[in-house]
Amino acid sequence: MDLFKVYKLWDIEPVRGLGTTLWDSNGVEYTDLYGGHAVISVGHCHPHYVAMIREQLGKLGFYSNAVQNSLQRELASRLGKASGYDDYSLFLCNSGAEANENALKLASFHTGRSRIMCFSKAFHGRTSGAVAVTDNAALRSPFNSAHKVTCVPFNDIGSAEEELKSGEYAGVIVEGIQGVSGIHEPSADFLKGLRDACDRYGSLLILDEIQSGYGRTGMFFAHRHCGIRADIVTVAKGMANGLPIGGVLISPAVEARYGMLGTTFGGNHLVCTAALAVLDIIENEHLVENAAKVGEFFRKELCPGGKPLYPIREYRGRGLMIGLELEDGHEDMRDRLLFEKHFFTGAAGARVIRLLPSLTISEQTAASFVEAFRSLAEEGGAAKADR
Ligand SMILES: Cc1ncc(COP(=O)(O)O)c(C=O)c1O
Repeated sequence: MDLFKVYKLWDIEPVRGLGTTLWDSNGVEYTDLYGGHAVISVGHCHPHYVAMIREQLGKLGFYSNAVQNSLQRELASRLGKASGYDDYSLFLCNSGAEANENALKLASFHTGRSRIMCFSKAFHGRTSGAVAVTDNAALRSPFNSAHKVTCVPFNDIGSAEEELKSGEYAGVIVEGIQGVSGIHEPSADFLKGLRDACDRYGSLLILDEIQSGYGRTGMFFAHRHCGIRADIVTVAKGMANGLPIGGVLISPAVEARYGMLGTTFGGNHLVCTAALAVLDIIENEHLVENAAKVGEFFRKELCPGGKPLYPIREYRGRGLMIGLELEDGHEDMRDRLLFEKHFFTGAAGARVIRLLPSLTISEQTAASFVEAFRSLAEEGGAAKADR
């Protein structure tokens, strides 16, 4: 049997990692500023993470959600404290899409309504409801297209409010910072306006913090920069540094009933242990603060005095969720960073480089990227002048 070919692959196979460094099967060393798509939050193979997982695996890796699991309760309590959502409840599942799918269902169960509002260029995952609220028709099969969804222009509070007035909406789903679209922030006024309108018209506000959460932006959740609270928050990616997990933080206003949600694998002993190890490391090593600090360093170096370094057209994002939109003609920059300078980065379309490094990244590593970027930009400029 061959693999179902849905991914465009680089011809590189990482076989070992430590911190922000990866080595491929030929022994070539790379610096990882992509984190396997914002998943590596505490670095590859952190010794505390490895030790806790090893120990738990020797005791019990999995049992179903039919029995007591104190690791889940500890995770809920620790995550509540770390995020400032102590009074919420936690439902554990296996991925970001699944977390959003459950969030949408909860909004619908709670309000008895079926319509959801999402925003232009949003990405919320690939399951049925999650892909229906993702603004990319190419990802939706006819089967996923029957959901009642209205997509409103991002950051346009007037249009959102006008729609919400109908009283038809179970919920509104919005990313803390849009990731897949190329790092676009909701304005503080937009998020505050959504909060008010949801309260006024009886809809639940769902914050998708799957990419922007877990400390990446210099606060535990990106939406906390503008001071609002959501009714439901979804998390995944960095939560267990690569073991599959997703979580839904649910307001006390939403009542649980047995059987309402469920999963076989979600919240098993191994992933909860990994998630607890991640919280230990985030706290012990002050990684939320580090994300803010190294994020500022990147901004200062790549966009000094608010003027982006050539060939960056626009520097976007917060903390360690960074989008570098390049001038036309520099579409090869990401490949050159990888193949000539050995830096893994992410992308959004052909012209946006996304930096989503581990929260453990040092200023020294950030500086080595800036140096590599500068040198490629200079070589590129010189090559263009020769033509
Ligand atoms: C904002 C956001 N939501 C949801 C998802 C889907 O997460 P998963 O791939 O774990 O299903 C992603 C993945 O990139 C994402 O960036």
